[in-house]
Order: sequence, then structure tokens, then C-alpha cells
Amino acid sequence: MTGLAATTMSLEPSARIEFGVGAIARLPECLDELGADRVFLVTDVGLRAAGVVDRVVGLLESSGRAVTVHDAITPNPGTATLDAATAAVRSACSAGTAAGCAVVALGGGSVLDAAKGIALLGTNSATARDLAAGTAMRPGLLVVAVPTTAGTGAETNGFGVIEDERAHRKLYVGDASVRPRVCVLDPELTVGLPRAATAATGIDALVHGIESLASRGANPVSVAYAAEAVRLVSGSLAAAVADGADLEARAQLLLGSHLAGRALSISGLGLVHGIAHATTSHTGAVHGVALAAVLTEVMERTAAVAGPAYARVA
Ligand SMILES: NC(=O)c1ccc[n+]([C@@H]2O[C@H](COP(=O)([O-])OP(=O)(O)OC[C@H]3O[C@@H](n4cnc5c(N)ncnc54)[C@H](O)[C@@H]3O)[C@@H](O)[C@H]2O)c1
Repeated sequence: MTGLAATTMSLEPSARIEFGVGAIARLPECLDELGADRVFLVTDVGLRAAGVVDRVVGLLESSGRAVTVHDAITPNPGTATLDAATAAVRSACSAGTAAGCAVVALGGGSVLDAAKGIALLGTNSATARDLAAGTAMRPGLLVVAVPTTAGTGAETNGFGVIEDERAHRKLYVGDASVRPRVCVLDPELTVGLPRAATAATGIDALVHGIESLASRGANPVSVAYAAEAVRLVSGSLAAAVADGADLEARAQLLLGSHLAGRALSISGLGLVHGIAHATTSHTGAVHGVALAAVLTEVMERTAAVAGPAYARVA
């Protein structure tokens, strides 16, 4: 057999997706459906300064929920950043049943990734280093993702990219149980993202689409997601950088980033990400900038084998 008849696929059902300008208003209803009456909100100081944290906390508190805010996530989080949240998440989620407590990740990829590890630390007597070592774990707390960059697509999978500060390398930390059960994709929440960060995170989404198309792990479903992701991101990134308040561009970028995340969760990524993770671990470079630094050269050197995939994005 050849072609599609020779292809096998095993795809997990996706999370509930709430997309649209103002979609954040539906967060309480999503938490009701999950039975979560308490929230451990994971975020960072940049989101607080942008006013996004106060807005979401207000929404959650007016729905009658107890909210504990942990805003100490640093860019490119490491194992120490996860460990620093352990006592707080265990204390916030220990009353009643852990099932009634949700970790809401409000931020960019750094926050979303850290939140997955924190959700596991909330239910396991372990350290972040144990998680990184792949020790068997009990299922983590429920995770709800609200991405504010577009982006990493980190809301689509249960694994976070966490730095091992001692070894200067990035590790994948996570588990299927902490894959976000709900993703709220609200373009309005990305409007305050500064121009340079909009460009860097948009390049990340574009590279996800390109590397997913070229991956040996691609299948017809990942290709469909990746092709549409590349179309949306390449058509909107310049406009979003030029005018951060352009909601149409922000919407296209956010959906494109999400679809690229779904694509990479199926296919895996490639050499551009491999080199960029190592670069960031050694230099602290912004993820999207590290990707942009090597994208052209990797494409040139792999054109002989990945040419058909690259032709799709030309
Ligand atoms: N799990 C995955 O699938 C995956 C994929 C790609 C990258 N990553 C990881 O994601 C991380 C990078 O995430 P990122 O690029 O989204 O950046 P980030 O989360 O590090 O955020 C960068 C900065 O932007 C600020 N910010 C975010 N949203 C904002 C908003 N709406 N308004 C104002 N400021 C805002 C933050 O406060 C922060 O200072 C890296 O650690 C990378 O390894 C994970």
C-alpha cells in the first residue's frame, strides 16, 4: 500500500477552545464546567504591569471563586522557578479536593510551560528536577491556558520547555494530565504585547508551521494545521507589528499560533528549534530571536530533503 492507505494516525481529542475578541469573559463558565471553584493563577509581572492580571482576577472573583495569584514566573523558566511555586500551589489547592482546584496559566509560553510543571508539583511530593528526570507522577491539577502571546502554541500540549540551570540545557517537563483542558484564545489580551515581543513570538509561530511541514513526523492532519497556520501568521505578522491595536491582525496571529501548536504537537519540530534552545540556554537570547538567527541557514542546508515542504510556504 502507498499514500493515505499506508498512513496510520492516532490523535487525541483536543481541548475546549474559546476563541474570539472578549472570549476571556467565558472563563468562569469554563471553570464551572470543570467543577473548579478555586484557582491558582500562574502569571508574570509583565502581565500584571499590562493590567491583564487585574482584569482576569476581577472576572474570577466576581464569579465567586477563591483566587491565589503567583506572578513570579521568569522568561525561559528554570527548575528553580517551578520549585518556588510548590508551597503556594499545595497550600492553595489542598483545601477540599484537588479536583476542585484549577491552575489557570495567564501569559506567554514561559507562564504556560511553568504552569504545567506547577500543576504536577501540586499533586506530587516531588521537585522540578524529579519532573525533569521523568520520574513517574500522579496526574497533575487541572490546567486552563490563556495565552497572551502568539506565540508558542504551548496551550496545545502537556509539556513545558524548562531550563536545567546547572546543565545549561532545556528539558521537556510535563505529562498528558496537565495538557490544558480549556484554551481561551482572546486576541484582545495580546494587544499590549510590545512590538519587539510581537515580532519574536510571531516568528516562533511561523517556524512551528514551517518545521512541522518539513518534519518526518508530519501526517495529513498536522499538514492541514501547519499550512493554515503559515498562511495566517505570514499574512498578519507585519500588520500586528506595525499596529499592535489591529485586532484583525492580532486575531489571525493568535489562531495561527494555536494551529501551529496543534501541528507541532503531532509532528514534532526540527533543527531550528534544536539549535535555538541550546543558544538560549547559553546566552539567554529571546526564543524567537534565537530561531530567526538560524532559520535561513537551516532551510538552505536542508532544502535538498525538505524542498517540497518549503515550496508550500514560499
Ligand atoms: N511548550 C511548547 O510547546 C513551547 C513552544 C515554543 C516555545 N516554548 C517556550 O516558551 C517560552 C517563550 O514564551 P513567549 O515567547 O511567549 O514569551 P514569554 O512568555 O517569555 O513572554 C515574554 C515577555 O512578554 C510579556 N508579555 C506576555 N504577554 C504580554 C501581553 N499581552 N502584554 C504585555 N506583555 C506581555 C511577558 O511579561 C514577558 O516579559 C520559552 O521558554 C520557550 O522555550 C514552549
